Amino acid sequence: MMKEFGFRGISEVIATTISKSGEPNAAPIGIISDGNLSARVYTNTQTYANIKATKKMVANIVDDPMLFVLSALMKLSLDEFRMDDGNPVLKAAKAWIVFECSIVDDPKCATVILLPLRKKILKRSIQPVNRGFNAVIEATIYATRYLVMKDPKYLGWIEHCEDIVIKCGGEREKEAILKLKEFLGGK
Ligand SMILES: Cc1cc2nc3c(=O)[nH]c(=O)nc-3n(C[C@H](O)[C@H](O)[C@H](O)COP(=O)(O)O)c2cc1C
Repeated sequence: MMKEFGFRGISEVIATTISKSGEPNAAPIGIISDGNLSARVYTNTQTYANIKATKKMVANIVDDPMLFVLSALMKLSLDEFRMDDGNPVLKAAKAWIVFECSIVDDPKCATVILLPLRKKILKRSIQPVNRGFNAVIEATIYATRYLVMKDPKYLGWIEHCEDIVIKCGGEREKEAILKLKEFLGGK
C-alpha cells in the first residue's frame, strides 16, 4: 500500500468524509507513514466530526492545487464529489483509498489510525516536480494557521510562496494562489 501509493513521511491528500446526515466534506489532511498509516486531526474540524460519526475517511490523491486551496479555506462544490459504494470520493482524484478509522482521542488533536478497506488507482499521469505547486500547498497551510493564530509572520511567508508561484507555477497554480489571496483579503 505504502509503496503503491507513494506514501512516505507525511503525504498531503484531500480527505473526504460524510456527516451522519450524508453531507460530503473535503479538507487537506497529512497521512503519516511510520510502518502504519495514521493522521492527526484537529477536533474542531468537520472532518473530525464526520470520522467520529462514520468511522470512515477517504484519502484522495489529487494534483490540482486549486482543490487544496478550496477545500482548506472554503467549501468544495457538491459537483466535485461522487459516491462510490457509499463513500464520497473526489471526481478529480488520481487515486483514492477508503479507510476504516479508529480514533485515539485527545481534546485538541486526535490521532486517527487508518486501515485500508478499498482502493482505486484511476490515472497514472506524470507530474514533474513543480516548485509553484509545492508553494501553493505551503501557502495554504500558512493560510489555515494564520486564520487560527493571526500571526502576521504567516502573511510574509505567503508572500514568499507567491513569488515562487509567479516564477515557477503554471496557470492553475497562479489561479489557486490568487484565490487564496482573495480569500485572505476578506479576513
Ligand atoms: C496541505 C495541508 C495539510 C493539512 N493537514 C492537516 C492535518 O493533518 N490535520 C488537520 O486537522 N488539519 C490539517 N490541515 C488543515 C485543514 O485542512 C483545515 O483546518 C480545514 O479547514 C478543515 O476543514 P473541515 O472543517 O471542513 O474538516 C491541513 C491543511 C493543508 C493545506
